[in-house]
Amino acid sequence: MSRLVFLLNGPNLNLLGKRQPHIYGHETLADVERDCRALATELGLELRFHQSNREYEIVDWIHEARESAGGIVINPAAFTHYSVAILDALNAFDHPVIEVHISNVHKREEFRHHSFVSTRADGVIAGFGTQGYLLALRRLARLMDEKAT
Ligand code: DQA
Repeated sequence: MSRLVFLLNGPNLNLLGKRQPHIYGHETLADVERDCRALATELGLELRFHQSNREYEIVDWIHEARESAGGIVINPAAFTHYSVAILDALNAFDHPVIEVHISNVHKREEFRHHSFVSTRADGVIAGFGTQGYLLALRRLARLMDEKAT
């Protein structure tokens, strides 16, 4: 199976480090990408790291992953709570999917408690700050290894 992993980030995550740091922390998305790349190398994974504020771009990347990747880590950000399009795209992807939220969405407003993506995800990580991305990659690597054997 492919060792290629797509790590996808939804809207406003380009502002990570500047946006509501009391909720999302001070690390930037570039910091997250650097740490994820280092871990991916350690885990023997090839990483495609993307962020978009546009729903269709995320859908297109999931379609691309469908053709080439062995797993997806996704923080759909606000799309989590209303995007049936992203859920449908993930349902057409046959390999493991891990959903990440930097904040603990369950401790926040009611509208953040429901996730369309969670109905598809093999695992969900929330409230671990940006460390959640690294935990997600480790879990994904394990699931990919199990699937390959
Ligand atoms: C988020 C939580 C979402 O509710 C929010 O819309 C985001 C980020 C998180 O990482 O904690 O933009 O996905």
